[in-house]
Amino acid sequence: MSSNPVHSLQSIEPQMSTSYLDFLSVVNMSTIVLCMGGLLAVLIARWLKRWQNPKCNGVLPPGSMGLPFIGETLGLIIPSASLDLPPFIKTRIKKYGPIFRTNLAGRPVIVTADREFNHFLLRQDGKLVDTWSLDTFAEVFDQTTQSSRKYTRNLTLNHFGIEALREKLLPKMENAINDTLRAWSSQDSTEVKSATITLTIDFAAKQLFSGDLDDAPLKLSDMFNNLVDGLMSFPLNIPGTAHHRCLKSHKQVRELMSEVLRKRRCSNEKREDLLHYLINDMDTEDFLSEGFIIQLMFGLLFVSSDSISTTCALAFKFLAEHPEVLDELTAEHEAILEKKENMDSPLTWSDYKSMTFTLQVINEILRLGNISPGLLRRALQDISINGYTIPEGWVILLASAALHLNSSEFEDPLTFNPGRWKDLNPSVVAKSFMPFGSGMKQCAGAEYSRVFLATFLHILVTKYRWELVNGGKIVRAPIIRFPNGFHYKITPKT
Ligand code: HEM
Repeated sequence: MSSNPVHSLQSIEPQMSTSYLDFLSVVNMSTIVLCMGGLLAVLIARWLKRWQNPKCNGVLPPGSMGLPFIGETLGLIIPSASLDLPPFIKTRIKKYGPIFRTNLAGRPVIVTADREFNHFLLRQDGKLVDTWSLDTFAEVFDQTTQSSRKYTRNLTLNHFGIEALREKLLPKMENAINDTLRAWSSQDSTEVKSATITLTIDFAAKQLFSGDLDDAPLKLSDMFNNLVDGLMSFPLNIPGTAHHRCLKSHKQVRELMSEVLRKRRCSNEKREDLLHYLINDMDTEDFLSEGFIIQLMFGLLFVSSDSISTTCALAFKFLAEHPEVLDELTAEHEAILEKKENMDSPLTWSDYKSMTFTLQVINEILRLGNISPGLLRRALQDISINGYTIPEGWVILLASAALHLNSSEFEDPLTFNPGRWKDLNPSVVAKSFMPFGSGMKQCAGAEYSRVFLATFLHILVTKYRWELVNGGKIVRAPIIRFPNGFHYKITPKT
C-alpha cells in the first residue's frame, strides 16, 4: 500500500471513476435490456393475441389457434388406435359444436361437421370454395395442374369409367386378382395392405403405360409404400423424417415416369394405353407438357392404389371378425356362380350389377374406414355460416368422417353392419355418406374402385378362407394406417 496520500488519491481516483462509469454503464445496459425485454414481451403478447384472434370481417367460429407456427398440428397427428373419429376432431366438436376453427401446420383452418353446410359447400366448388391440399399433398400433386382438372377428370372417366370397365377392364381385373390371390395362397402369410398396393399399382400401370416399367430396377410399389407413409406427416424436410422419405420417393417415381415418357416419345410403337392418348393430345392441348403428363400418371397411380388397398385390407379384417356377414356375402357370390352354365366363365357386367349385398359391404367398409378424415377446400371469399364468418383464404376441412360416424344417422356407428344399408333413408346416403366426395369434384375413379373391390371379394369369398397370423392393429393419425401390417394366411377352399 502507498504511504503518499496524493499518490494514493491519484491512484484511487481513476479506479473510482472507472467503477462509477462501469456502474453507470451496467445500469444503462440493464435499463436498455429491461426496456428491450419489455418491448419484446409486449410485441410477443400482441403477436400471440393476434395469432389467437386472426383478422376477420365478422365473428370467427369458436376454437383455438394453438401454438405459434405449428398451431394444433400435433393434436391432429397424435395416433389413436380406434376406428372412431380422431380425438382431435371428436373433442372439439363436443366443446365448440360442429363448426370450429383451428390452425394446422401454420395455416388457419375451419373444420365443419355440419351436414347441411358441407352439402352446400360441395355445390359451391369454383364459386365460394376451391380444392386445396395439405402441404405434402400440394408438393406431391402439384397445385399448378388444377387448371387442367377437367381434362384429367374426363381422361380418367374415359379410361377407368363405366364403359371402359364394362367393355374391357372387368375381365382383366378378374385375371389379375385371380393370379394374385393364387400367389398369396402359396405363401405362409401375406401382408395384405402392401401386397394389394403392388396388385393395384401393377394393374393401373398396365393401363397407363402397358407395363413399360416391368424391367425397372426399383419397384414402383415399394416407392409408393414409402410415399404413402409420409403423406400426412409434419412437413419437415430433413433426412430421417417421413416427409423427407415421401418427397424422395416422389422424386424417384417422377424420374421413372419421365424415363417412360422419354422412351415412348422416341419409339414409333403404337400402344392402346393412356400414355398414348396423352402424347397424341400434346399437339392440341397447350397445358400438356412433359411435366404435366408425369404428374398426371403419378397422381393416377397413387389414387388407384392407396385407397383401394386400404379398403381391401379392412375387408379381410371385418369379414374375418363377422362370420355372419361373410356367410351372406359368400351366398351371394355362390349364387352368381351357380347361375352360370360354366362356373369358370368370366364375370360379366350383369353379374357385377347383381351384387347388391356386396356393394352394401363395400359401403360399410368405406363408411367405417374413413380413409381420409375429410375433404379439403379453401374459401375464395368470406363465407357466412350460422352468424360466423369464414375469412377468405382460410382452409376448410369438411369432416366427412364425422358424418359417417354420426350416431343420429348411422345407429351404433362403430359397428360393422352392412345390413344397415338395406333400409337407410336416401337423404342420409345423399348428404351424410361421401367416401368419394360429392358434387362436381366427386371421385372420377369411384366406379373403378367399386368394380375392383367387388371382383376382389367375389374371388376371395368363393375360392379362399383366411386367418390373421400377425398384426391387425388399426391406427388413425389421422389417416388410417396399419402399424404392424395385416398378415393373413390365405388358404384355398377345398
Ligand atoms: C376406394 C377408392 C377411392 C376413394 C375412397 C377415393 C376418394 C376420392 C375423393 C374423396 C375424391 C374427392 C376429393 C374432393 O372432393 O376434394 C376423389 C377425387 C378423385 N379421384 Fe378418387 N378415390 C378412390 C379411388 C380412385 C381411383 C381408383 C381413381 C382413378 C382411377 C380416382 C381418381 C380420382 C380423381 C381423378 C379425382 C378428382 C376428381 C375431380 O376433381 O374432378 N380415385 N377421390
